[in-house]
Amino acid sequence: MRRRRGKSGMTGALARRGISMKTLNEILNKHTLKVIGLMSGTSADGMDAALTEISGSGTDISVRQLAFVSIPYTDEERREILRLASGGEGGSHDLALFSFYLGGVCLRACREVCAKAEVLPEEIDLVGSHGQTLWHIPQPESYLGTPLTATLQLGEPSVIAEGMGCPVVSDFRVRDMAAGGQGAPLVPYAEYLLYRRADKTVGLQNIGGIGNLSVIPAGCGLEDVFAFDTGPGNMVMDRLTEKLTGGSQRIDTDGRLAAAGKVSSELLAFLMEDAYLKTPPPKTTGREKYGDAYIGAVLNKAAGLGLPACDIIATATDFTAACIQTAIRDFCRPMPEQLIVGGGGSRNPTLMAFIRRRLSIPVLTNEDLGFDSDAKEAVAFAVMAAECVRGVCNNVPRVTGARHPVVMGKITV
Ligand SMILES: Nc1ncnc2c1ncn2[C@@H]1O[C@H](COP(=O)(O)OP(=O)(O)O)[C@@H](O)[C@H]1O
Ligand SMILES: [Mg+2]
Repeated sequence: MRRRRGKSGMTGALARRGISMKTLNEILNKHTLKVIGLMSGTSADGMDAALTEISGSGTDISVRQLAFVSIPYTDEERREILRLASGGEGGSHDLALFSFYLGGVCLRACREVCAKAEVLPEEIDLVGSHGQTLWHIPQPESYLGTPLTATLQLGEPSVIAEGMGCPVVSDFRVRDMAAGGQGAPLVPYAEYLLYRRADKTVGLQNIGGIGNLSVIPAGCGLEDVFAFDTGPGNMVMDRLTEKLTGGSQRIDTDGRLAAAGKVSSELLAFLMEDAYLKTPPPKTTGREKYGDAYIGAVLNKAAGLGLPACDIIATATDFTAACIQTAIRDFCRPMPEQLIVGGGGSRNPTLMAFIRRRLSIPVLTNEDLGFDSDAKEAVAFAVMAAECVRGVCNNVPRVTGARHPVVMGKITV
């Protein structure tokens, strides 16, 4: 039974509305927590929310997914995210408003996932929210004469805490960066806890806007897990599709356009001439590299080759597959014995066929294992939030390049 604080223990607006706010102490005394994980990735397609039940921690953790929802962004919301994520656009005025706006979207996603699971919002113990990345600088850049790495995820957690009446953990990446890491990728921690096997080296390929690969060697410890960004996931395909269809299609739904085209070996060779693909891990990338300037260069090259739209999209689709193949061949020791694909890219059958054609190991989806491809990253942030409030280190220094393990996440109570 949850203990509610009396009116005297409440403060400000919460007290006036008669809503109690769960304290950290309360939730730390519980065996099983109901935790919502929130994620909005580089694709800027929507806010994902997974409602989970979590008990235990570290390798003794047990996680059950109760429900998942994804609230798609409207065209206007998506345009605004992409505008603010493009660099020089939007000053502190716009960013301040955006952060509070997205906090509201997060809160709506929490309420919707509760409704779907038929769980009352008051039953939620904790929320873990990634926020929306607007800028990520994993390699030091000189600023006021000082070399610095930095990252910016927005989506005001106070708005979520105020609406849900429970603590919210957010802004995970910055602590890893303060410890010398790249602040990414973060999901390998949860992947190690949920997917490790004694008898098999497992590769987990997420295909969101960017592609990330985690390798969990057979019978390994957390320190043996390695992971890095393989290059673009859907980001290049999505943007090319949008441009080449004159904005009438935002994604190549079910890979139909790519399936109707032919991969151009010239354009593919041009795309593979990419310093990022040759850089050894740890490495991460994002919209800063594969955004509009990059798309412009690809379209320029394709125009020079006289390629039709479907061929350009087919080539971009095979490029994502080739990035994964190269990453495994050049940088994975031990090599995965099976690849489990998650993220929105796993819903693109043409991409999946290209990946299977390029690899000699079995390529499965999360669904093949009874997991949920869409919910996986949101579940990971629920897990990381639960570990944060328990004071358990939740980064993987080998993966991010941090000097040591840290507890990632800031707690809003
Ligand atoms: N049915 C589909 N056919 C093709 N691509 C899809 C389909 N469903 C999702 N996707 C792709 O997945 C992307 C969203 O993936 P997601 O894992 O949410 O990425 P992110 O984590 O970057 O938000 C879409 O932008 C699109 O490229
Ligand atoms: Mg998404």
